[in-house]
Amino acid sequence: MPLFKKKNTAERPLPRHIAIVMDGNGRWAKKRGLPRSAGHVSGAKTFKTIARYCNKIGLEYLTVYAFSTENWKRPPEEVEGIMNLLRDYLKDAENFKQENIRVKFIGDPTPLADDIKELMKKDEDGSKNATGLKLNIAINYGGRDELVHAVKKIIDEGVPMGEITEQTISDRLYTAGMPDPDFIIRPSGEYRTSNYLLWQSAYSEYWFSDVLWPDFTPKHLEKAIEDYNRRNRRFGGV
Ligand code: IPE
Ligand code: IPE
Ligand code: MG
Repeated sequence: MPLFKKKNTAERPLPRHIAIVMDGNGRWAKKRGLPRSAGHVSGAKTFKTIARYCNKIGLEYLTVYAFSTENWKRPPEEVEGIMNLLRDYLKDAENFKQENIRVKFIGDPTPLADDIKELMKKDEDGSKNATGLKLNIAINYGGRDELVHAVKKIIDEGVPMGEITEQTISDRLYTAGMPDPDFIIRPSGEYRTSNYLLWQSAYSEYWFSDVLWPDFTPKHLEKAIEDYNRRNRRFGGV
């Protein structure tokens, strides 16, 4: 019985925007004597389960970290395996559309294969009128890269220096127009941001857990949200 159903979110308020670092796939596989690729396959299933759950409980925004600007450092066969999983997901994204989930990709698509870029665009366009969960998938995303990108845009647009505010920058990030993440979840026992949402996370609440991403279930998410509801967010005030 899920703790959070649309009807009781008023009593147990959901964060507006949850972000997740989907980490620990490799270690999950290693523990089972399986190749790292098996961990990514399992992690992709968890992603779908959690996204559907977030949609069901009425969450507004979910942003997941799927591939970072630093992940290209991995062996080419691992990167290829992740890209193939992305292809599978994109071809299957029709399912999400039927579930009224709006998909958007954040990150720099430039180095991605052309067929992936086309599928990404198709999925974004195909789901743009969905009114349920707004799902952001971070692919070739890096917080520093995003800021460099934003600075270049500001210069390219010729924005006068005296007019540059925090909003000028926020408006040129991949997350332009979205609320900052209220709550960032990182499973797998690592206590770092790994370049995720650097600007947007200024006042995010963090939640860490040793659970490896393929083992992460809606129950863990419920527990995390319960913890979130006990936090006292002050934003620098009293
Ligand atoms: C996260 O799992 C998936 C990606 C970064 C693409 P990892 O592959 O980083 O798993 P660990 O951290 O090695 O266990
Ligand atoms: C962060 O995990 C990126 C994703 C989950 C996509 P990493 O596994 O790449 O992070 P580090 O290397 O442990 O910091
Ligand atoms: Mg990792």
